[in-house]
Amino acid sequence: MSAIITIDGPGGSGKGTVTCLVAKQLGFRCLDSGALYRILALDSIKNGIALDNADLISKSASSLDVEFFNGKVLLKGEDVTDAIRGEDIGEAASKIAIYSLVRDELLHFQKSFAVAPGLVADGRDMGTQVFPQAELKIYLTASAEERAKRRHKQLIAAGQGGSLRALVKDIQARDQRDIGRETAPLRPAEDSILIDSTGMTIEEVVQKIVNLWHKAP
Ligand code: C5P
Repeated sequence: MSAIITIDGPGGSGKGTVTCLVAKQLGFRCLDSGALYRILALDSIKNGIALDNADLISKSASSLDVEFFNGKVLLKGEDVTDAIRGEDIGEAASKIAIYSLVRDELLHFQKSFAVAPGLVADGRDMGTQVFPQAELKIYLTASAEERAKRRHKQLIAAGQGGSLRALVKDIQARDQRDIGRETAPLRPAEDSILIDSTGMTIEEVVQKIVNLWHKAP
């Protein structure tokens, strides 16, 4: 049996970093489900598959050759860790993520990450669809401006740059697509705990979640 913590929320809320740090502290495995959608989007682009071709994309999803190894993401053995992090790939990921055919194919793969002693999983629908049985569900958010500032910093650090104002717009557009879609829309699970990380450090958020876990029934 695997204990499960889910951390859902909009893009740029710090979920990825927080998830891995919480998992590390608790000795759990971590799942970055957004990376799966990003990998699939990258794979589709590389293979010239249109992002609205749900049939073909779901076929690729059913045989996705991906490995998470030592902090690296390998697609068919190729290191795509940095390639999947661009804003363009995030945007493409949110386009293919609207299709239930695609989401259904990824479901089984995501569930397979739940191994003892535990898993911390981050995404949009971890607490609502993939792991509704999770013992602790967090909905992590921050204002669009704060999230854009964080992304901007990450992009600058990765030598990619970009305008802050354009990033706020991109983030708002992606929020709308994730919240407004019919299949597995982004929304807090009814039994989730809301954490607004605006003005909080990563360490503060991690500690808060670890404390909640120790208090969880
Ligand atoms: O979290 P990240 O920004 O890497 O996710 C990229 C996109 O993948 C999101 O905007 C969302 O549309 C999609 N996604 C999803 N369900 C998840 C994780 C990500 O639909 N569980």
